[in-house]
Amino acid sequence: MADRNVKILGIAGSTRDGSFNRMALAAAAQQLPSGSTLEVFELHEMPLYAQQHETPLPAEVSDLKAAVEGADAILFATPEHNASISAALKSAIDWGSRPMGHNSWAGKVGAVIGASPGALGTVRAQGQLRQIMAALDMVVVSQPDVLIGSARDKFGMNGSLVDEKARALLGQLMTRLVATARALRQGAAQ
Ligand SMILES: Cc1cc2nc3c(=O)[nH]c(=O)nc-3n(C[C@H](O)[C@H](O)[C@H](O)COP(=O)(O)O)c2cc1C
Repeated sequence: MADRNVKILGIAGSTRDGSFNRMALAAAAQQLPSGSTLEVFELHEMPLYAQQHETPLPAEVSDLKAAVEGADAILFATPEHNASISAALKSAIDWGSRPMGHNSWAGKVGAVIGASPGALGTVRAQGQLRQIMAALDMVVVSQPDVLIGSARDKFGMNGSLVDEKARALLGQLMTRLVATARALRQGAAQ
């Protein structure tokens, strides 16, 4: 049981063509420890959160909740919008926490990465996102920081992460994320 493949769900808070954060998720998929996989859930079709639409849940929201519940770990790649996470990501997170009493994020192991053309590399958004994750009862793996600042210089023309230091940090974070998910699963099985 403890050796079963660890399934990571990657969610980027941007739907932009050429999004650095979607590229960062693709880079994370290249740095996985053995025995783990990463699938990406795209937010293009997600409606904006609205409580009056909770019953029944929109199909896209049910898809998101099923993907989260079927994963062992969550990897968020967050843009920074006005010193916070993007509206698209917050809305998706809010949907996943609803309806009341059916919080799909609860108990999931999660980590955060982020990319931005600016120098700070989403540090403010990442701090806020970790607070939100704690409020959702997620188990947050917070080190090492993967802050991909000056993103235009860190990704190549084909979208690959060419910065060696960022790639190494990404690998370390993925290793810790998978190890934590395994440890939790092992604990739960005992
Ligand atoms: C509304 C808005 C606000 C932004 N605010 C910030 C910011 O506070 N800090 C930052 O580093 N970049 C900021 N940016 C620039 C984004 O980091 C940049 O657009 C980035 O490429 C978004 O991520 P993506 O490439 O995954 O779409 C902002 C962009 C937008 C559209």
